[in-house]
Amino acid sequence: MMVRGLWVCKVRLWKRGGHPGLLPILCLLVFFCLLAVLFVDYIEIWITSLGMSRTGPAHGVVLPQSMPPTRPEEYLLMPSPLVCQRAKPYLMTLVTSAPDNQKARQAIRDTWGGEVQVRGHRVMTLFMVGQTSDPGLAKQLVEEARERGDLVQGRFMDSYANLTLKTLSMLAWARRFCPQARFLAKVDDDVMFNPSALLRYLTSNWGGSENELPELYIGRVHMRVAPDRNPASKHFMSEDLFGGSVFPDYCSGTAYVLSRPAVLKVSLAATALHLLKPLPPEDVFVGLCAHAAGITPTHCPYFSGGPSVPYGRCCYQAMVSVHHTKPEEMLRYWAEVHSTTPCSWFGVQTSLGICKVRSFFGDLLGFQ
Ligand SMILES: *[C@@H]1O[C@H](CO)[C@@H](O)[C@H](O)[C@H]1NC(C)=O
Repeated sequence: MMVRGLWVCKVRLWKRGGHPGLLPILCLLVFFCLLAVLFVDYIEIWITSLGMSRTGPAHGVVLPQSMPPTRPEEYLLMPSPLVCQRAKPYLMTLVTSAPDNQKARQAIRDTWGGEVQVRGHRVMTLFMVGQTSDPGLAKQLVEEARERGDLVQGRFMDSYANLTLKTLSMLAWARRFCPQARFLAKVDDDVMFNPSALLRYLTSNWGGSENELPELYIGRVHMRVAPDRNPASKHFMSEDLFGGSVFPDYCSGTAYVLSRPAVLKVSLAATALHLLKPLPPEDVFVGLCAHAAGITPTHCPYFSGGPSVPYGRCCYQAMVSVHHTKPEEMLRYWAEVHSTTPCSWFGVQTSLGICKVRSFFGDLLGFQ
């Protein structure tokens, strides 16, 4: 039907002499809209690059020359300290999870987190949790760690307000126990992650030789976000703590990726910045650390954040992360996406275009 419509356009466009009517212009417009849908990811990269701030690295924060060593005792539960030495993962994914989210963790193990080899590379998924005041739940966690061997528990109370501590703990763990991983991904436990799509993106852009790996901080970039100056808000930030009118651009906290050299620099900066009181929200904090370390974020259109992404089989094959996914949905989508043949380039681009447009208008109209 689409093709037929365009054909009508073509015939009318070329047959009619005299001055052009409204129809050809309309036809051209429709044609360009369809083209735009097909190349929505490239357009998004281009538009974002226009909006990102071009300020150079900040020098307001003094980075420590040496850092306090991370001791294994800081972690109450963790797999063998040799886990990365043995497996040498190319990609280490650390999923931030709350102690009582067992169902979400199980759904992840049964889907994307269960993969160990993707596109010829070793991948590993572990869960980051904090402490709980519920003794029954604490016991269950010990049991879960013994059975599954994939929990890392930091020494801090697990609460929403302490999410930034969880990230600090995660960065320190990765730096100390997993320097082998070329890339570190931080993912929330309600995110449908797609290691295969991520590795395709990473290897096609930065798959070259080992010593050329740049400092990368990749995800959905939030631009020009203003600090919350309302003292009653839970994200309140005083002017003493952060004087700027907007935060440095940062990646959405639902899922982002750091390259090995970036993990080192960002965690160094985090060691210097973690004394801020109160700690900023997790993603803003990582953005501030990256900024202090002179690392600018890279926008990848396949990461979600903000409006949710409606389900489309080929769209989900291309997306690296989709947030707000319930455990049941994760199981269902994963089975659907992987049971059938991979989508063609045309299939992926059309589906991606449609789900991006739907997500954009859904957000505009207020339903997600
Ligand atoms: C954050 O963790 C620290 C260390 O365990 C704890 O003292 C503090 O109460 C926690 N904060 C919240 C809001 O849970």
